[in-house]
This record gives sequence, structure tokens and C-alpha cells, in this order.
Amino acid sequence: MAVRTRGVVKRYREVVAVDNVDLAIDDGEILGLLGPNGAGKTTVINGILGLTGFDAGEVSIFGRTMKRIDRDTRRRIGLVPQEIAVFDDLTAEENVTYFGRLYGLGGSALADGVRSALEFTGLSERGRQKPKTFSGGMKRRLNIACAVAHRPELVIMDEPTVGIDPQSRNHILESVRALARDGATVVYTSHYMEEVEAVCSRVVIMDNGRVIASGTQSDLKALVADAEIVDIELERMSPDIVAAVRGVSGVKECASDGTHLRIAAERDGVRLGRIIERAVDAGAEVLSAHVERPTLESVFLSLTGRSLRD
Ligand SMILES: Nc1ncnc2c1ncn2[C@@H]1O[C@H](COP(=O)(O)OP(=O)(O)OP(=O)(O)O)[C@@H](O)[C@H]1O
Ligand SMILES: [Mg+2]
Repeated sequence: MAVRTRGVVKRYREVVAVDNVDLAIDDGEILGLLGPNGAGKTTVINGILGLTGFDAGEVSIFGRTMKRIDRDTRRRIGLVPQEIAVFDDLTAEENVTYFGRLYGLGGSALADGVRSALEFTGLSERGRQKPKTFSGGMKRRLNIACAVAHRPELVIMDEPTVGIDPQSRNHILESVRALARDGATVVYTSHYMEEVEAVCSRVVIMDNGRVIASGTQSDLKALVADAEIVDIELERMSPDIVAAVRGVSGVKECASDGTHLRIAAERDGVRLGRIIERAVDAGAEVLSAHVERPTLESVFLSLTGRSLRD
């Protein structure tokens, strides 16, 4: 097993950022850590890597329990941090070289690692340029190159696709698959459920510092097998409309996401027409309505009553 945590707790004054988290990350899997802003994803990762201390619990990495991560273990891991951490005054190649050295590479292994990391992230042509001339997506890819030149066995990516173009996003998702094909274990943190659905073999959903569900995607979707997700688009949202829809019998949860109502309802227990009727009575102008197949987002909605993107 690559990583195991037991009962990890991290408090910041009255905030319990991580609340009794148990994780088991198998060798070679792509584990998705999914949760809304503030769920505790980064804090868990930082706890695993020893970048923040924790108040209780235990972490073991590559089968060894450790209070403080040692240097040899650190060199078997690559972290792609949530905040881009590259030097603007060094070229892309110099940046990757710097991190490669930090992770223990030297000589021809360093040169090879740097070359293949730039190639892997599609930046070979840009090696001599400085990141200040890069687009957001290219900086994100450089951030990844810096974490993989030393060919880590465990790669932890903390929201690697925030604020980037679709092309870079696809490139990054493809690189996650490539790392796993080469035998690495990948932890992929995101609040975009589509990405997690696209690349992850197993998913852990966090909310308010806790793990609220985990399993393969089909395990998780089975949790909502008795529910149906209804999406209704409105001209305008109002609290009265949300309250009216919540009151329809058979409606389990209802969240408002911009101009959309996201409703978890009992399967076959409720008619779409009845929900629309109530919404219209409460003053809604309905633009569209449809029933969806279960997704990871509907799992989150059913478990928390909120939309992932709140
Ligand atoms: N250094 C800190 N001091 C005080 N509170 C903190 C600190 N770091 C995190 N927190 C709090 O801990 C909780 C979890 O934060 P964390 O950054 O782990 O969430 P996250 O799931 O990574 O969110 P995001 O998707 O926004 O990155 C939040 O309530 C946050 O405000
Ligand atoms: Mg975070």
C-alpha cells in the first residue's frame, strides 16, 4: 500500500480542517480526492507529506509508519502543489533541474529526467523560456514537470487544472493516465467531478474535514441508486422556489446552483411534473427540466444536500 492514514486530525483554532480521516491508497491506483472548497483536501495531503503537523492520528507511507517523513521517502514522492511554485526568473529547464536536484537527482540521471519531464508535459520547445511568458496552462504543466523529473513512485497533484484552457486540461488528464500506466500511484485532488470521473479508479469524497464516502465510481453511484437527479433551469432563482420544491413529497434534497435547481428525489416516488407545478406556483419561470443519470455530483448532493460547486 502506498499510503495509509488512520484517525488523522488537524485543527486550526476552532476549525477542524481534517476530522478523523482514514485513507488507504493502493499501489498503482489513481485515487481521486474530491470535495468542495475548504473540505480539507490540501490539509490531508500536507499532513501525509509532513508539511503540516497534525493533532492526532498516524500516517504510513510505502508500508512504514513515520512521525516525520525522511529524506529517502520524500525522494520517492512528487508533489504538484495547489499554488504554482516555479521561479519566474529561471527558464523552464532550469526550474525542472532545480527541483530534480532537490529530489536527489544528479549527473546524467538529472539531464535525462529534466528532458523527459519537459517532453512529458509538452514543454520541450519552451525549455529555454521563462515562465513569466507562459500561459496559465503552461505554468501548470511546468509545475507538474518539476514534480516528476525524479520519476516518483507516488505523485500527488493538488488541483492541477484550476484556471486553465481545455487543451492543457486534457494534456494533464492524459499525463495522469500515463503516470499510472508507468506504475506510479497518483493522488488527484479536485473539485471538478468530471475530471475525477474521467481519470480516477477510486474516489474519496470529503466535506467539512471528513470522508463522507469512498469507493469505486460504481460503488459510489450505487449509493444513489434509489435516487433520481432532476435539474431545472429557471429564469430567476428565489428562496421561495427552493422552499416550495423542498416541500414536494419524494424530494430528498434540493440545492440551488446559480439559475439551476439540483434536486435529489426518490426514484419513481416523484413526478417531474409535480415539481415543476410547485415551482411555478412559487413564481418560477422554468426554462428547461430534465432527469439525469447518477454522477459523483449527485452522490455529493444526496449525501450533503449541497451542490459540489457551492
Ligand atoms: N493555515 C491555516 N490556518 C487556518 N485555517 C486553515 C489553514 N489552512 C487551512 N485552513 C482551514 O482548514 C479548512 C480546510 O482547508 P483546505 O485548504 O485543506 O481545504 P481544501 O479542500 O484544500 O480546499 P480548496 O478546494 O479550496 O483548496 C478550511 O476551513 C480552511 O479555512
Ligand atoms: Mg486545497
